[in-house]
Amino acid sequence: MQKPNSKLVSILLGAAIPLLSTAGIASAMEASAPFAASAIRGQTVYQKACAACHGETGNGNGQGAKPLNPKPRDFTAGLYKFRSTGLGELPTDADLMKTITNGVYGTQMPSFAHTLTAQERTDVIAYIKKFSPDFDAQEEPAAVIEIPEAPASTPEFVAEGKNVFMTLDCYTCHGPQGKGNGNASKGLKDAAGNPIKPQNLTRTQYKSGSDPQSIYRIIHSGLNGTPMSAFAGAFLFGGDKEISADALAGSYSKSEIETLKAYLASQPSLEKAQALDDEAKTELTQRRKWALVHYVHSLQKKAGIVQWLFTEDTEVTK
Ligand code: HEC
Ligand code: HEC
Repeated sequence: MQKPNSKLVSILLGAAIPLLSTAGIASAMEASAPFAASAIRGQTVYQKACAACHGETGNGNGQGAKPLNPKPRDFTAGLYKFRSTGLGELPTDADLMKTITNGVYGTQMPSFAHTLTAQERTDVIAYIKKFSPDFDAQEEPAAVIEIPEAPASTPEFVAEGKNVFMTLDCYTCHGPQGKGNGNASKGLKDAAGNPIKPQNLTRTQYKSGSDPQSIYRIIHSGLNGTPMSAFAGAFLFGGDKEISADALAGSYSKSEIETLKAYLASQPSLEKAQALDDEAKTELTQRRKWALVHYVHSLQKKAGIVQWLFTEDTEVTK
Protein backbone atom coordinates (compact mmCIF):
# COMPACT_ATOMS: atom_id res chain seq x y z
CA MET A 1 0.00 0.00 0.00
CA GLN A 2 1.42 3.33 -1.02
CA LYS A 3 1.44 6.20 1.42
CA PRO A 4 -1.15 8.85 0.68
CA ASN A 5 0.65 11.96 -0.52
CA SER A 6 0.14 15.64 0.10
CA LYS A 7 -2.71 15.85 -2.41
CA LEU A 8 -4.72 13.29 -0.50
CA VAL A 9 -3.86 14.91 2.80
CA SER A 10 -5.02 18.33 1.69
CA ILE A 11 -8.23 16.84 0.39
CA LEU A 12 -8.80 15.11 3.72
CA LEU A 13 -8.18 18.43 5.40
CA GLY A 14 -11.14 19.78 3.54
CA ALA A 15 -9.47 21.53 0.65
CA ALA A 16 -11.42 19.39 -1.77
CA ILE A 17 -12.47 22.26 -3.99
CA PRO A 18 -9.77 21.69 -6.65
CA LEU A 19 -11.20 18.22 -7.20
CA LEU A 20 -14.52 19.64 -8.29
CA SER A 21 -14.68 21.57 -11.50
CA THR A 22 -12.81 24.77 -10.70
CA ALA A 23 -12.83 26.08 -14.24
CA GLY A 24 -16.22 27.72 -13.89
CA ILE A 25 -15.35 29.45 -10.64
CA ALA A 26 -11.97 30.68 -11.82
CA SER A 27 -13.24 32.10 -15.07
CA ALA A 28 -16.19 33.73 -13.34
CA MET A 29 -13.73 35.52 -11.04
CA GLU A 30 -11.53 36.42 -13.96
CA ALA A 31 -14.31 38.17 -15.76
CA SER A 32 -14.69 40.65 -12.93
CA ALA A 33 -11.72 42.89 -12.18
CA PRO A 34 -13.81 46.06 -11.87
CA PHE A 35 -10.97 48.59 -11.65
CA ALA A 36 -7.90 49.26 -13.78
CA ALA A 37 -4.75 47.50 -12.55
CA SER A 38 -3.02 49.30 -9.67
CA ALA A 39 0.59 48.51 -8.78
CA ILE A 40 0.09 50.31 -5.47
CA ARG A 41 -2.72 48.00 -4.41
CA GLY A 42 -0.71 45.17 -5.98
CA GLN A 43 2.17 45.79 -3.57
CA THR A 44 -0.08 44.99 -0.60
CA VAL A 45 -1.25 41.78 -2.28
CA TYR A 46 2.37 40.87 -3.08
CA GLN A 47 3.58 41.32 0.49
CA LYS A 48 0.75 39.19 1.80
CA ALA A 49 0.70 36.40 -0.79
CA CYS A 50 3.98 36.27 -2.73
CA ALA A 51 6.93 37.84 -0.85
CA ALA A 52 7.49 34.81 1.41
CA CYS A 53 8.69 32.90 -1.65
CA HIS A 54 9.56 35.51 -4.30
CA GLY A 55 11.21 37.90 -1.80
CA GLU A 56 10.44 41.50 -0.76
CA THR A 57 12.57 42.79 -3.63
CA GLY A 58 11.28 40.24 -6.14
CA ASN A 59 14.63 38.48 -6.51
CA GLY A 60 13.21 35.03 -5.70
CA ASN A 61 14.94 34.83 -2.33
CA GLY A 62 12.06 34.95 0.12
CA GLN A 63 12.49 33.31 3.55
CA GLY A 64 10.58 30.27 2.30
CA ALA A 65 12.58 29.90 -0.91
CA LYS A 66 15.62 27.95 0.32
CA PRO A 67 14.28 24.39 0.37
CA LEU A 68 12.21 24.82 -2.79
CA ASN A 69 13.07 23.13 -6.05
CA PRO A 70 12.49 24.62 -8.55
CA LYS A 71 13.22 27.99 -6.94
CA PRO A 72 10.63 30.76 -7.02
CA ARG A 73 11.07 33.05 -10.04
CA ASP A 74 13.46 35.98 -9.73
CA PHE A 75 11.25 38.73 -11.16
CA THR A 76 14.18 41.14 -11.57
CA ALA A 77 15.64 38.96 -14.36
CA GLY A 78 12.65 39.35 -16.67
CA LEU A 79 12.88 35.69 -17.75
CA TYR A 80 9.50 33.96 -17.85
CA LYS A 81 8.96 30.35 -18.83
CA PHE A 82 5.25 30.23 -19.55
CA ARG A 83 4.34 32.53 -22.40
CA SER A 84 2.19 32.75 -25.47
CA THR A 85 4.99 34.87 -26.96
CA GLY A 86 8.22 33.90 -28.77
CA LEU A 87 11.54 32.79 -27.24
CA GLY A 88 13.22 35.59 -25.31
CA GLU A 89 10.05 37.69 -25.18
CA LEU A 90 8.23 38.88 -22.08
CA PRO A 91 4.90 37.25 -21.22
CA THR A 92 1.58 39.03 -21.78
CA ASP A 93 -0.60 40.03 -18.83
CA ALA A 94 -2.90 37.16 -19.82
CA ASP A 95 0.02 34.71 -19.51
CA LEU A 96 0.80 36.01 -16.02
CA MET A 97 -2.87 35.82 -15.08
CA LYS A 98 -2.94 32.19 -16.19
CA THR A 99 0.14 31.28 -14.11
CA ILE A 100 -1.14 33.05 -11.00
CA THR A 101 -4.67 31.70 -11.35
CA ASN A 102 -3.68 28.08 -12.07
CA GLY A 103 -0.33 27.84 -10.28
CA VAL A 104 2.46 25.73 -11.75
CA TYR A 105 1.66 22.02 -11.68
CA GLY A 106 4.14 19.86 -9.76
CA THR A 107 5.90 22.84 -8.10
CA GLN A 108 5.34 24.95 -4.99
CA MET A 109 3.84 27.80 -7.03
CA PRO A 110 0.24 27.69 -5.76
CA SER A 111 -3.00 28.42 -7.55
CA PHE A 112 -4.57 31.69 -6.43
CA ALA A 113 -7.91 31.05 -8.12
CA HIS A 114 -9.69 30.87 -4.77
CA THR A 115 -7.45 32.92 -2.47
CA LEU A 116 -7.17 36.13 -4.49
CA THR A 117 -9.93 37.96 -6.35
CA ALA A 118 -9.52 38.77 -10.04
CA GLN A 119 -8.88 42.37 -9.00
CA GLU A 120 -6.11 41.34 -6.61
CA ARG A 121 -4.50 39.14 -9.26
CA THR A 122 -4.73 41.97 -11.81
CA ASP A 123 -3.13 44.40 -9.35
CA VAL A 124 -0.31 42.06 -8.33
CA ILE A 125 0.58 41.56 -12.02
CA ALA A 126 1.04 45.33 -12.37
CA TYR A 127 3.29 45.22 -9.30
CA ILE A 128 5.54 42.27 -10.23
CA LYS A 129 6.17 43.85 -13.66
CA LYS A 130 7.82 46.78 -11.83
CA PHE A 131 10.63 44.49 -10.64
CA SER A 132 12.13 44.23 -14.13
CA PRO A 133 12.98 47.33 -16.20
CA ASP A 134 12.29 45.24 -19.32
CA PHE A 135 8.54 45.75 -19.01
CA ASP A 136 8.90 49.56 -18.85
CA ALA A 137 11.24 49.51 -21.83
CA GLN A 138 8.65 47.64 -23.87
CA GLU A 139 6.73 49.89 -26.24
CA GLU A 140 3.92 47.43 -26.70
CA PRO A 141 3.27 43.88 -25.49
CA ALA A 142 5.14 41.16 -27.43
CA ALA A 143 3.23 39.49 -30.25
CA VAL A 144 1.32 36.35 -29.35
CA ILE A 145 2.31 33.38 -31.51
CA GLU A 146 -0.41 31.98 -33.68
CA ILE A 147 -1.30 28.37 -32.96
CA PRO A 148 -3.42 26.81 -35.68
CA GLU A 149 -6.14 24.37 -34.75
CA ALA A 150 -4.76 20.91 -33.97
CA PRO A 151 -5.47 18.25 -36.61
CA ALA A 152 -6.93 15.05 -35.14
CA SER A 153 -4.38 12.59 -33.84
CA THR A 154 -3.94 9.34 -35.77
CA PRO A 155 -1.59 6.36 -35.27
CA GLU A 156 0.31 7.54 -38.41
CA PHE A 157 0.79 10.98 -36.88
CA VAL A 158 2.07 9.49 -33.61
CA ALA A 159 4.45 7.16 -35.48
CA GLU A 160 5.85 10.06 -37.52
CA GLY A 161 6.11 12.11 -34.34
CA LYS A 162 8.34 9.52 -32.72
CA ASN A 163 10.70 9.81 -35.68
CA VAL A 164 10.67 13.61 -35.37
CA PHE A 165 11.37 13.26 -31.61
CA MET A 166 14.44 11.18 -32.51
CA THR A 167 15.53 13.42 -35.41
CA LEU A 168 15.40 16.60 -33.29
CA ASP A 169 17.28 14.94 -30.39
CA CYS A 170 14.47 15.45 -27.86
CA TYR A 171 15.37 12.03 -26.43
CA THR A 172 18.86 13.19 -25.41
CA CYS A 173 17.26 15.18 -22.58
CA HIS A 174 13.77 13.70 -22.21
CA GLY A 175 14.86 10.08 -22.66
CA PRO A 176 13.75 7.55 -25.30
CA GLN A 177 10.51 6.85 -23.40
CA GLY A 178 10.05 10.52 -22.47
CA LYS A 179 10.70 9.85 -18.79
CA GLY A 180 13.06 12.81 -18.44
CA ASN A 181 16.13 10.60 -18.04
CA GLY A 182 18.08 11.05 -21.29
CA ASN A 183 21.87 10.96 -21.28
CA ALA A 184 22.04 14.77 -21.44
CA SER A 185 19.51 15.21 -18.61
CA LYS A 186 22.05 15.24 -15.81
CA GLY A 187 23.75 18.37 -14.55
CA LEU A 188 21.49 20.77 -16.47
CA LYS A 189 21.22 24.28 -15.00
CA ASP A 190 18.79 27.13 -15.53
CA ALA A 191 19.84 30.72 -16.24
CA ALA A 192 20.15 31.40 -12.49
CA GLY A 193 22.55 28.45 -12.12
CA ASN A 194 20.07 26.24 -10.29
CA PRO A 195 19.76 22.56 -11.21
CA ILE A 196 16.89 21.77 -13.57
CA LYS A 197 15.49 18.50 -14.88
CA PRO A 198 13.83 17.86 -18.23
CA GLN A 199 10.10 17.31 -17.77
CA ASN A 200 9.00 13.69 -17.46
CA LEU A 201 6.70 13.66 -20.49
CA THR A 202 4.79 10.61 -19.21
CA ARG A 203 3.32 12.58 -16.30
CA THR A 204 -0.39 13.29 -16.36
CA GLN A 205 0.20 17.05 -16.56
CA TYR A 206 2.98 19.40 -17.56
CA LYS A 207 3.74 22.73 -15.90
CA SER A 208 2.09 24.98 -18.41
CA GLY A 209 -0.68 22.86 -19.91
CA SER A 210 -0.92 19.37 -21.36
CA ASP A 211 -3.30 19.72 -24.31
CA PRO A 212 -1.97 19.66 -27.90
CA GLN A 213 -2.12 23.47 -28.24
CA SER A 214 0.02 23.92 -25.10
CA ILE A 215 2.54 21.31 -26.25
CA TYR A 216 2.75 23.08 -29.62
CA ARG A 217 3.42 26.39 -27.84
CA ILE A 218 6.14 24.88 -25.61
CA ILE A 219 7.94 23.26 -28.56
CA HIS A 220 7.57 26.34 -30.75
CA SER A 221 8.70 28.99 -28.24
CA GLY A 222 10.67 27.13 -25.56
CA LEU A 223 10.86 28.10 -21.90
CA ASN A 224 12.96 31.24 -21.27
CA GLY A 225 15.90 30.80 -18.93
CA THR A 226 15.95 26.98 -19.23
CA PRO A 227 17.75 24.43 -21.46
CA MET A 228 14.36 23.85 -23.16
CA SER A 229 14.89 26.04 -26.19
CA ALA A 230 12.59 26.99 -29.05
CA PHE A 231 12.28 24.56 -31.93
CA ALA A 232 10.22 26.84 -34.19
CA GLY A 233 12.88 26.77 -36.91
CA ALA A 234 13.90 23.11 -36.57
CA PHE A 235 11.17 21.46 -38.61
CA LEU A 236 12.56 22.15 -42.08
CA PHE A 237 15.07 19.31 -41.90
CA GLY A 238 15.92 17.17 -44.91
CA GLY A 239 15.77 13.40 -45.23
CA ASP A 240 19.53 13.61 -45.67
CA LYS A 241 19.98 15.06 -42.16
CA GLU A 242 22.82 13.37 -40.32
CA ILE A 243 21.64 11.53 -37.26
CA SER A 244 23.93 10.57 -34.42
CA ALA A 245 23.96 6.80 -34.80
CA ASP A 246 25.95 6.19 -31.61
CA ALA A 247 23.69 8.26 -29.40
CA LEU A 248 20.60 6.67 -30.92
CA ALA A 249 22.03 3.16 -30.48
CA GLY A 250 22.47 3.84 -26.77
CA SER A 251 18.80 4.69 -26.41
CA TYR A 252 16.77 2.91 -29.09
CA SER A 253 16.52 -0.63 -30.46
CA LYS A 254 17.85 -1.59 -33.88
CA SER A 255 14.36 -1.79 -35.33
CA GLU A 256 13.43 1.66 -34.01
CA ILE A 257 16.54 3.07 -35.67
CA GLU A 258 15.71 1.24 -38.91
CA THR A 259 12.23 2.78 -38.79
CA LEU A 260 13.78 6.21 -38.35
CA LYS A 261 16.11 5.65 -41.31
CA ALA A 262 13.19 4.55 -43.51
CA TYR A 263 11.25 7.64 -42.43
CA LEU A 264 14.12 9.98 -43.30
CA ALA A 265 14.62 8.21 -46.63
CA SER A 266 10.97 8.98 -47.43
CA GLN A 267 11.48 12.70 -46.81
CA PRO A 268 12.71 15.30 -49.32
CA SER A 269 16.38 16.31 -49.07
CA LEU A 270 17.19 19.59 -47.38
CA GLU A 271 17.83 21.20 -50.74
CA LYS A 272 14.44 20.07 -52.06
CA ALA A 273 12.67 21.07 -48.86
CA GLN A 274 14.18 24.54 -48.99
CA ALA A 275 13.20 24.94 -52.63
CA LEU A 276 9.51 24.25 -51.90
CA ASP A 277 7.15 27.20 -52.31
CA ASP A 278 5.91 28.82 -49.10
CA GLU A 279 2.66 26.93 -48.99
CA ALA A 280 4.28 23.51 -49.42
CA LYS A 281 6.99 24.40 -46.92
CA THR A 282 4.42 25.39 -44.32
CA GLU A 283 2.47 22.23 -44.97
CA LEU A 284 5.57 20.07 -44.48
CA THR A 285 6.80 21.78 -41.31
CA GLN A 286 3.33 22.02 -39.76
CA ARG A 287 2.70 18.32 -40.37
CA ARG A 288 5.97 17.41 -38.65
CA LYS A 289 5.27 19.78 -35.78
CA TRP A 290 1.80 18.37 -35.12
CA ALA A 291 3.16 14.83 -35.47
CA LEU A 292 5.64 15.62 -32.68
CA VAL A 293 2.90 17.22 -30.58
CA HIS A 294 0.67 14.16 -30.95
CA TYR A 295 3.56 11.85 -30.11
CA VAL A 296 4.41 13.79 -26.93
CA HIS A 297 0.70 13.89 -26.06
CA SER A 298 0.50 10.11 -26.51
CA LEU A 299 3.23 9.65 -23.88
CA GLN A 300 1.16 11.29 -21.16
CA LYS A 301 -0.32 9.01 -18.56
CA LYS A 302 -4.07 9.26 -18.58
CA ALA A 303 -4.60 8.82 -14.87
CA GLY A 304 -7.87 7.81 -13.32
CA ILE A 305 -8.84 9.61 -10.13
CA VAL A 306 -7.59 6.90 -7.76
CA GLN A 307 -4.21 6.72 -9.49
CA TRP A 308 -4.03 10.52 -9.43
CA LEU A 309 -4.51 10.60 -5.66
CA PHE A 310 -1.69 8.17 -5.04
CA THR A 311 0.84 9.46 -7.53
CA GLU A 312 3.49 11.70 -6.05
CA ASP A 313 3.75 14.34 -8.74
CA THR A 314 5.91 16.90 -7.03
CA GLU A 315 9.37 16.74 -8.55
CA VAL A 316 12.14 16.11 -6.08
CA THR A 317 15.64 16.70 -7.37
CA LYS A 318 18.50 15.26 -5.41
C1 HEC B 1 5.11 28.79 -1.80
C2 HEC B 1 5.97 29.54 -2.66
C3 HEC B 1 5.34 30.49 -3.66
C4 HEC B 1 4.41 31.48 -3.45
C5 HEC B 1 3.71 31.84 -2.17
C6 HEC B 1 4.24 32.16 -4.72
N1 HEC B 1 5.04 31.57 -5.67
FE1 HEC B 1 5.19 32.14 -7.64
N2 HEC B 1 6.50 30.63 -7.98
C7 HEC B 1 6.96 29.74 -7.03
C8 HEC B 1 7.85 28.79 -7.66
C9 HEC B 1 8.57 27.66 -6.97
C10 HEC B 1 7.93 29.15 -9.03
C11 HEC B 1 8.77 28.48 -10.11
C12 HEC B 1 8.04 27.43 -10.89
C13 HEC B 1 8.92 26.86 -12.00
O1 HEC B 1 9.91 27.48 -12.36
O2 HEC B 1 8.59 25.82 -12.52
C14 HEC B 1 7.08 30.32 -9.18
C15 HEC B 1 6.89 30.99 -10.40
C16 HEC B 1 6.10 32.13 -10.55
C17 HEC B 1 5.96 32.86 -11.80
C18 HEC B 1 6.74 32.56 -13.06
C19 HEC B 1 5.98 32.06 -14.25
C20 HEC B 1 6.87 31.99 -15.48
O3 HEC B 1 6.30 32.13 -16.57
O4 HEC B 1 8.09 31.78 -15.41
C21 HEC B 1 5.10 33.90 -11.54
C22 HEC B 1 4.61 34.96 -12.52
C23 HEC B 1 4.72 33.82 -10.16
N3 HEC B 1 5.35 32.72 -9.58
C24 HEC B 1 3.89 34.72 -9.52
C25 HEC B 1 3.54 34.64 -8.18
C26 HEC B 1 2.67 35.60 -7.54
C27 HEC B 1 2.09 36.84 -8.20
C28 HEC B 1 2.52 35.18 -6.25
C29 HEC B 1 1.63 35.77 -5.19
C30 HEC B 1 0.26 36.09 -5.57
C31 HEC B 1 3.30 33.95 -6.09
N4 HEC B 1 3.91 33.69 -7.29
C32 HEC B 1 3.40 33.23 -4.92
C33 HEC B 1 6.63 29.73 -5.70
C34 HEC B 1 5.72 30.55 -5.08
C1 HEC C 1 18.86 20.30 -23.67
C2 HEC C 1 17.83 19.50 -23.08
C3 HEC C 1 16.46 19.51 -23.73
C4 HEC C 1 16.12 19.18 -25.03
C5 HEC C 1 17.04 18.78 -26.18
C6 HEC C 1 14.67 19.25 -25.10
N1 HEC C 1 14.15 19.61 -23.88
FE1 HEC C 1 12.19 19.77 -23.43
N2 HEC C 1 12.66 20.39 -21.55
C7 HEC C 1 13.95 20.48 -21.04
C8 HEC C 1 13.89 20.95 -19.68
C9 HEC C 1 15.08 21.18 -18.77
C10 HEC C 1 12.53 21.14 -19.37
C11 HEC C 1 11.94 21.56 -18.02
C12 HEC C 1 11.86 23.05 -17.86
C13 HEC C 1 11.20 23.42 -16.55
O1 HEC C 1 10.62 22.55 -15.89
O2 HEC C 1 11.25 24.57 -16.21
C14 HEC C 1 11.79 20.76 -20.57
C15 HEC C 1 10.40 20.79 -20.66
C16 HEC C 1 9.67 20.30 -21.74
C17 HEC C 1 8.23 20.19 -21.78
C18 HEC C 1 7.27 20.50 -20.64
C19 HEC C 1 6.98 21.97 -20.43
C20 HEC C 1 6.05 22.20 -19.22
O3 HEC C 1 5.18 23.10 -19.29
O4 HEC C 1 6.16 21.50 -18.21
C21 HEC C 1 7.90 19.64 -23.00
C22 HEC C 1 6.51 19.30 -23.52
C23 HEC C 1 9.14 19.45 -23.73
N3 HEC C 1 10.19 19.88 -22.94
C24 HEC C 1 9.23 18.89 -24.99
C25 HEC C 1 10.42 18.78 -25.71
C26 HEC C 1 10.49 18.32 -27.09
C27 HEC C 1 9.34 17.83 -27.92
C28 HEC C 1 11.82 18.37 -27.46
C29 HEC C 1 12.43 18.12 -28.82
C30 HEC C 1 11.93 18.96 -29.91
C31 HEC C 1 12.56 18.85 -26.28
N4 HEC C 1 11.68 19.08 -25.27
C32 HEC C 1 13.93 18.99 -26.25
C33 HEC C 1 15.12 20.16 -21.70
C34 HEC C 1 15.21 19.80 -23.03
